[in-house]
Amino acid sequence: MTALTLNHVNKTFGKGIAKVEALKDVNFNAEQGEMTLILGPSGSGKSTFLTIAGSLQTPTNGEVLINNENIRHLSAKKREQLRLNHLGFVLQSYNLVPYLTVKEQFKLVDKVKKNGNLSASQLDDLLKLLGINQLINKYPDQLSGGQNQRVAIARALYPDPEIILADEPTAALDSAHVEEVGKLFAQLAHAQNKAVVVVTHDLRLKAYADKIFNITDGVISREK
Ligand SMILES: Nc1ncnc2c1ncn2[C@@H]1O[C@H](COP(=O)(O)OP(=O)(O)OP(=O)(O)O)[C@@H](O)[C@H]1O
Ligand SMILES: [Mg+2]
Repeated sequence: MTALTLNHVNKTFGKGIAKVEALKDVNFNAEQGEMTLILGPSGSGKSTFLTIAGSLQTPTNGEVLINNENIRHLSAKKREQLRLNHLGFVLQSYNLVPYLTVKEQFKLVDKVKKNGNLSASQLDDLLKLLGINQLINKYPDQLSGGQNQRVAIARALYPDPEIILADEPTAALDSAHVEEVGKLFAQLAHAQNKAVVVVTHDLRLKAYADKIFNITDGVISREK
C-alpha cells in the first residue's frame, strides 16, 4: 500500500529578491515494505521535503496524502493525532529533551502516546542493537553526537510507527553504526512492512535502499 504521496508539491519561502523555491513540482510515493532514500546536497530541499511529507509544514501548493488521506482536509488536532499514531520522525536536530535522561525520553513518549509502544524487552533489544543500552541514565549533553543520534533514532522507533521519516539519520555516525542503522531500516521495511523514507547526503546508505531518488535545487528525480 502507498503510505505517502506528494502530488505537484511546491514550497516557496520569502518574496521578491529573497524568494527561494525550496521544492519544485515534487511528485513522490513511498510504499509500505520499502526503504526509500532521497539523496541531495546541502540546501537542496531535503528537510523541507521531509517536514512537508510528515505534515510538520504545509506546502505552498500541491497535495500531501498520508495513508491515502489528504491531510489538507484535516484539522490541526487530527493532524497531530495522525503524526502521533502513524509517523516516526528522526529530525536533523535530534530534538531530545535536554533535562531528561535517555530512559526518561522514552517515558515521555509513554505519557503522550499511551498504547502500542514497544515493550520493555523490545526497547532493550533496540537499544542493544544501536549500542546505546549502557547509556540510559545519561543526559543528552553527556553523550557524543553519534550517541545522541542513535538515541533519537530509537526514540522515533519506540512508538512503533508505520511510517518512518528520517532526516540525515547517520550524519554523525561511523561506518559500523551506519551499517547497523541501514540494516535496521531495511529490516523494518521488509520484515515489518513499514514505509521508511530517509533524506540524506550519506551515500553509505545506498546499499540498504529499495528505491533511490535524487533531489537537486528542489527537483526530485528517480535514480533506482
Ligand atoms: N524557513 C525557511 N525560510 C526561508 N528559507 C528556507 C526556510 N527553510 C528552508 N529554506 C531554504 O530552502 C532551501 C532548502 O532548505 P532545506 O533545509 O530543505 O535543505 P536541506 O537539503 O535539508 O539542507 P541541509 O543538507 O543543509 O540540511 C534552502 O535554500 C534554504 O535556505
Ligand atoms: Mg536539512
